[in-house]
Amino acid sequence: MSSEPKTEPLDRRRFLGAAGLAGAGLAASALPLRAQEAKPDPLITEVQDWNRYLGEGVDKRPYGTPSPFEKHIVRRDVSWLTASPDSSVNFTPLHELDGIITPSGLCFERHHGGIAEINPANHRLMIHGLVDKPLVFTMEDIRRMPRQNHVHFLECAANSGMEWRGAQLNGCQFTHGMIHNVMYTGVPLKLLLAEAGLKPSAKWLMLEGADASGMNRSLPIEKALDDVLIAFAMNGEALRPEQGYPLRAVVPGWEGNIWVKWLRRIEAGDKPWQAREETSKYTDLLADGRSRRYTFIMDAKSVVTNPSPQAPLKHKGRNVLSGLAWSGRGTIKRVDVTLDGGKNWQSARIDGPVLEKSLTRFYVDFDWAGQELLIQSRAMDSTGYVQPTKDELRKVRGVNSIYHNNGIQTWHVRPNGETENVEIA
Ligand code: MTE
Ligand code: CO
Repeated sequence: MSSEPKTEPLDRRRFLGAAGLAGAGLAASALPLRAQEAKPDPLITEVQDWNRYLGEGVDKRPYGTPSPFEKHIVRRDVSWLTASPDSSVNFTPLHELDGIITPSGLCFERHHGGIAEINPANHRLMIHGLVDKPLVFTMEDIRRMPRQNHVHFLECAANSGMEWRGAQLNGCQFTHGMIHNVMYTGVPLKLLLAEAGLKPSAKWLMLEGADASGMNRSLPIEKALDDVLIAFAMNGEALRPEQGYPLRAVVPGWEGNIWVKWLRRIEAGDKPWQAREETSKYTDLLADGRSRRYTFIMDAKSVVTNPSPQAPLKHKGRNVLSGLAWSGRGTIKRVDVTLDGGKNWQSARIDGPVLEKSLTRFYVDFDWAGQELLIQSRAMDSTGYVQPTKDELRKVRGVNSIYHNNGIQTWHVRPNGETENVEIA
């Protein structure tokens, strides 16, 4: 960084102190060091091992993995949340990521019966029910059909579900990490259905997984004929076992539960199947005792990923606030951010691709003088829908819900930079 910082004046003692600490790996400086002013830094003046000795050759890592210095960046679970790991969930470390694509190995996992291990040679997809010609596809059959590439977010309807009654989990990984965003390659479902020939009476499809839970959901035919993909690849390579290898449904903008993994059967019918996952689960009990059902679409939502409880502020002066916004109804038009609990709002800088039903990255480049902050972000989508406050949401939905909590998140930054999950509205 060569440009002169425009921010707070440099505290000389602090500055020199920071130069001394740099060798110990502690970057305490609020501003970049200037070469002519710093004390001799062995990282500059001494030749280091990695600079002296040859590194590992090309054959050492036939499949690459992240640097060992990044090994703390992993999916994490919340042990008390579920009774057993086979029917459980872990969370994407959103505070450690940037851009809009989730690395495949960090995509959160949600399984109801563990990860099915399927040899693709033994995988079949059956389409039957209200069709002219029941069909069974092998993976090779599917790979010979016209395919498409699309980037989409998958958000579990239960994302932020622990936060309905108040601030609970301390980290955006846990409050918002049941989401990932990857590029899928797959065959449009409408092409597979056309092969089988839908009967006019077919109004719903039932999608069923080949895992031990045999998880199934009913999908309305309009969506099936619109933008649903039957995907075999993510981020350019085969789906990961955790994400449904060798085949999964991609249902853009709709709750994660309906994105059936290890997809083995599609039955066409004239009404929904009333499966467990759309009756007992994935319904929202309202205050008056009625339930919202078949709430497929994920409404616009956003979260500041940095700073956040797992990623506190460390430096005064120049800082980058970063976050993610998404909408199951289209694209993100605008994201507003407040640093003072809603007294002042500014529009964030959106950077990178703005895609349909995809995560969208935003930034606010700001100076921090060490004052307390109450940080919120508020997304607006291409339909004009504005992300509500948690109180606004509770007025309509009550507090019995688990699913579809898209309320505005608040982070409280203390003068020492520590950051906590709080609620102000
Ligand atoms: N499909 C099958 N066959 N079995 C499952 O347990 N879990 C669902 C859905 N599809 C599930 C499934 C739920 S609740 C979600 S949120 C998403 O898969 C999670 O997808 P992911 O594991 O790729 O994050
Ligand atoms: Co889910």
